[in-house]
Amino acid sequence: MASKANVTFNVLLLSVAIIVGNVIRLKVIPINNEVKRYLGYHEDSYLNFTEISAKYGYISEEHTVTTEDGYMLTIFRMRKRSCRQFKRPPVILMHGLLQSADVWLDAGPNAGLAYLIADECHDLWVGNQRGNYYGRRHARLDPDRDPKFWKFCVDEIGHYDIPATIDYVLKNTGEKKLNYVGFSQGAGTFLIMCSERPGYCDKANILIGLAPAARQTHTRSVPFRALTEGISKLEGVLFSTGFHELFYKGAIEQEFFSFLCKFRATSEALCNAIIAAIDAFHPGSVGNETLRVLYGHFPAGTSTHNMARYGQSMQSRKFQKFDYGKERNLEIYGAEQPASYNLTAVTVPVVVLYGRNDRLVDTRDVFWLVKRLPNVLEASEVADPLWNHLDGTYSQFNKRLIFPQLNQYLLQYSEV
Ligand SMILES: *[C@@H]1O[C@H](CO)[C@@H](O)[C@H](O)[C@H]1NC(C)=O
Ligand SMILES: *[C@@H]1O[C@H](CO)[C@@H](O)[C@H](O)[C@H]1NC(C)=O
Ligand SMILES: *[C@@H]1O[C@H](CO)[C@@H](O)[C@H](O)[C@H]1NC(C)=O
Repeated sequence: MASKANVTFNVLLLSVAIIVGNVIRLKVIPINNEVKRYLGYHEDSYLNFTEISAKYGYISEEHTVTTEDGYMLTIFRMRKRSCRQFKRPPVILMHGLLQSADVWLDAGPNAGLAYLIADECHDLWVGNQRGNYYGRRHARLDPDRDPKFWKFCVDEIGHYDIPATIDYVLKNTGEKKLNYVGFSQGAGTFLIMCSERPGYCDKANILIGLAPAARQTHTRSVPFRALTEGISKLEGVLFSTGFHELFYKGAIEQEFFSFLCKFRATSEALCNAIIAAIDAFHPGSVGNETLRVLYGHFPAGTSTHNMARYGQSMQSRKFQKFDYGKERNLEIYGAEQPASYNLTAVTVPVVVLYGRNDRLVDTRDVFWLVKRLPNVLEASEVADPLWNHLDGTYSQFNKRLIFPQLNQYLLQYSEV
């Protein structure tokens, strides 16, 4: 545990970093793709999802999902060009906190899970959640002018974005059910949906949760704890001074990482060290090319409110809704305490894969979750003792360590 003085120092440092980052943003013209090409950035670090997947022989369609509360999310249907027939039903693949659909391409063909799933001729739909750069549109609100746009956290993503995405994919394909693969927040928000939206859980044949983020009592990452707890304490101040959106693409910290990591010489040591600092060290797991690419898409942005929600979950032993304090809770929820999510309502068959070296979603919290889910088919540790959190998206060993099991379950619930 970090000491009090240490936490205070981190909070201070964080506030300064956020303020400086946001002030500088006003003065910096975003570096455009032409300039990046000229400076020798890896192409995959600045192209978009459709362009990258096309480059490697996949066809991606862009679709817009509009949620009941007006958020407009770009999602991608990605299929391998050489497949003659596609398996049914469709598969949804959903990213985690501060990521976007691009995260599934960052490890490159042969390791990125979007490529691997599409290679098996599944009808793949890659989702995006509100607040990242593919989910930064709204029917009525302007994310740059209306702070209201940013009043969301995983509670709303689970309530609106995941169901809307599922409905859209089912409607578009004419299917009754689909298969769902979620990483971290992408799995946690599915659980929230099952609890809050009766009937939706039954629209999936299976939930494959990679390091699913539910309760986070035992998160070991000191920087992530300090960061989210700091934001949680300062949320009111941050919001009222205009910091509604954090760690977005084009922000100073993202451009800075992206720039440093474009160099072959620095990428391996330095950019691996950034992952190791947030998560855990796993030498050689994230390939050199991936290190040069991933910071072009990470961090992908979210709301201050969502980061604050993570800060709360660090301090709680429950998987519960946002805690606004007794008075506001009474107004909003009709109770002094926020309700816990109902995990008994997660009736869908669940498969959980987790890493022993994961410092963001700790194995103790995974076991806590698994014990409460009524229909777990399998919960297993990835066969590599150093498997950390972000490996689920970035590791070059995905094909060997994650994909066979994942695909076996997809096939079990698919037909040609
Ligand atoms: C991706 O880039 C292409 C241009 O190459 C553009 O037409 C398309 O709208 C972009 N898609 C997204 C989601 O930004
Ligand atoms: C990355 O590249 C260096 C040389 O540039 C090489 O020694 C190292 O093995 C590579 N690492 C991986 C994981 O491929
Ligand atoms: C939780 O969900 C289950 C299954 O849908 C339901 O039977 C139960 O009443 C719910 N519990 C609460 C406290 O809402």
